[in-house]
Amino acid sequence: MRIVFSCTGTKAEPWLRSLRMALPDAQIEEWAPGAPQADYAVVWAPPQTLLDEQPKLKAMFNIGAGVDALMRLRLPADLPIVRLDDAGMSVQMAEYVCHAVIRHYRELDVCEVDEARQRWSYHPPRLRSDFSVGIMGLGVLGERVAKAVAAFEFPVNGWSRSPKSIDGVRCFHGQDQFHDFLAATRILVCLVPLTPDTVGVLNRDSLGRLKPGGYVINVARGAHVVDEDLIALVDSGHLAGATLDVFHTEPLPPEHPYWQHPKITVTPHTSARTERELSIGQIVQKIQALERGEKIAGVVDLGKGY
Ligand code: NAP
Ligand code: GLV
Repeated sequence: MRIVFSCTGTKAEPWLRSLRMALPDAQIEEWAPGAPQADYAVVWAPPQTLLDEQPKLKAMFNIGAGVDALMRLRLPADLPIVRLDDAGMSVQMAEYVCHAVIRHYRELDVCEVDEARQRWSYHPPRLRSDFSVGIMGLGVLGERVAKAVAAFEFPVNGWSRSPKSIDGVRCFHGQDQFHDFLAATRILVCLVPLTPDTVGVLNRDSLGRLKPGGYVINVARGAHVVDEDLIALVDSGHLAGATLDVFHTEPLPPEHPYWQHPKITVTPHTSARTERELSIGQIVQKIQALERGEKIAGVVDLGKGY
């Protein structure tokens, strides 16, 4: 069996070492133009040339949950694209989002500013019931996040494409229920995949429908947000602020207004990182299952784009 590895922005050597240990009989190499035909590819944002030169792949494994970079390429219609199926990401995402929700609700961001000025100030408690949290996307990550936030007794709404039923979560679905979902939400968490249907979904209209004092947590993709609209709504006071982990351009350019905005917190695409050994374990198990002729979970629906 031959496997090629092509992950933009990722050091290949530790991946190759662990993959070779897990699959000692396979030939596993970093892909370069002209490489011999492989059976499987392990990728993150690979070049189109890889796909053009490797027409006989049995499957392509993405080392992340989001496949938007792959969906921009010309893919053979019958090539199974396999996304990471949690592999240690959902617990990280739950930690990050709960932290951002609680930091905002408990005004810990204000305490940070006070501390820097050596100011001992009292903030009267706010009502948890006034801080409904709405999770856009109830998939592998969104469902775990919704349950984690609900465990802190916040009212939780969720929105997905198809109907869902999750204990402790008021579930909305489809475009018809999007406005009701937004109107019921104060802290909005974006965890939908980036597709033609969701690009720019966080804009003046949608964010303007959040409850007054709304707050945005974007942990999906930067292109979900219309940056100028978000900043205008924060500056007008309709939104209290935002915590953003993902951006149109990454790294976020030094001149971008998000960096200096006092009500916007920036983190460097770090909310749920790929855990190498867990991910390799999952990929190897799936390759072995495919070799036995078995079905595997996590195959992307190319029609839906996620
Ligand atoms: P997933 O399992 O594919 O779940 C996606 C969810 O979004 C599903 O509930 C789906 O609805 C819903 N959805 C998709 N399109 C929709 C639409 N047009 N309208 C309403 N709902 C829609 O994905 P996941 O594993 O949870 O990951 C979600 C995203 O998180 C990834 O695509 C990636 O962009 C991002 N991510 C970011 C980081 C980071 O570090 N910042 C790390 C990992 C992932 P149905 O259930 O009805 O299909
Ligand atoms: C990271 O952003 C991922 O999609 O896994």
